[in-house]
Amino acid sequence: MPIPKLHIRPGGPDFLDLPWERPVLEWEEDRTVDMPTGIHRHPVVFVAYDEGIYAIKELAAELADHEYQTLRTLETRTKRSASPAGLVLRPWLDPQEEGAGAVITRYVDYAFPYRELVSGSGFGPRRNQMLDAFAGLLVELHLAGCFWGDCSLSNVLYRYDAGAIETVMVDAETSTLYEMISDGRRFEDLEIMRENLAGGMADIAAASGKDLDEADLDIGTDITKRYNALWDELNSDLLIGPDERYLIRSRIERLNDLGFAVDEIDVAPDGGSSRIRITVQVGGRTYHSTRLRELTGIDASENQARQILADLSYHEAKHGGSGSPTSKAVTTMQWRATRFEPFASRIAELRPGFEPIQGYCDFLNYRYRESAESGHDMGSTAAFEAWIEAGMPGYDPFP
Ligand SMILES: Nc1ncnc2c1ncn2[C@@H]1O[C@H](COP(=O)(O)OP(=O)(O)O)[C@@H](O)[C@H]1O
Ligand SMILES: [Mg+2]
Repeated sequence: MPIPKLHIRPGGPDFLDLPWERPVLEWEEDRTVDMPTGIHRHPVVFVAYDEGIYAIKELAAELADHEYQTLRTLETRTKRSASPAGLVLRPWLDPQEEGAGAVITRYVDYAFPYRELVSGSGFGPRRNQMLDAFAGLLVELHLAGCFWGDCSLSNVLYRYDAGAIETVMVDAETSTLYEMISDGRRFEDLEIMRENLAGGMADIAAASGKDLDEADLDIGTDITKRYNALWDELNSDLLIGPDERYLIRSRIERLNDLGFAVDEIDVAPDGGSSRIRITVQVGGRTYHSTRLRELTGIDASENQARQILADLSYHEAKHGGSGSPTSKAVTTMQWRATRFEPFASRIAELRPGFEPIQGYCDFLNYRYRESAESGHDMGSTAAFEAWIEAGMPGYDPFP
């Protein structure tokens, strides 16, 4: 039996039990699990282990190597891409042959392909969320120096992120990583995205029996507008007078509000004038998720974390002590033990397979809405019971 060459990452399975001598599509069904996918060209299967589910994609050896290396480096720069778990080479095959290589990635938990978000001939009430999700994803990849080369509906995985949609890039076969991406490469990526999305929207319209002129062909142009606004906001320099130093702080707060962490602030005189030029180096969109993890150890995506932090502040305001660092730490622990953990376990029990953290955010949204409508604060425990009673409603996708 021929033996493949495997490069595997620590912390996962070794994948040695899989029948590599045969193409993945011929593997017995008891090894593979059925998971929904986007439209794709290469053979893809999913396999389940105690450690989790993994996606395996077969392609030519060089392409597989390129994709694996790209995902590995990208993972050190951003959280927006699928996590590589292994590279497999079948040296007994011609390296050009599809199947001479395979890339293994970790299945992105609670993610789903775009079809779940489609309503009618487009994304209906979720259109705005999709615009923000795509614009944000491209901005973050470009900040990380990644030219994607194939941004499309099928090469993105989607997850609910409080009231927003979080996107993850899969498929880095066409990607190139730079120290810093040029404007030319960024514009090229946007052009590819516009074309791919127009094609995707035409397919969605056709699938729902609509004419091409009813397809949402402009979606990519609208994403580009949001992308440009966000990119400019993150990358423009700030010129301030000597007594306007407070503006540095407000710029950082604005970037943090958008979810971006600030890596470094460069201050330099602006030519011969008395003004100062401030350049901010922006990191990933992880400001709130990092803060939540530091404070509580809870791992959530960015908008979920923003909302859970607000809940923690609400809890502190209602039940907090003196506000000293020690009393803050005690209140945080108490919030986790009496609110977050029991509520999240109850959600997991009532709805297996549903992400408990998203459920917790759905409940927070419900508490906020009900309290605002009734004009008085409902309190967490009463609101939680009422939310369950109401059938655990999620966010309305707002137009
Ligand atoms: N790590 C993963 N987690 C979840 N789904 C995945 C993962 N990798 C791939 N997929 C699914 O498989 C599909 C095909 O993968 P992709 O890398 O895009 O292959 P292709 O190069 O053939 O387009 C994707 O559209 C996605 O739905
Ligand atoms: Mg693809």
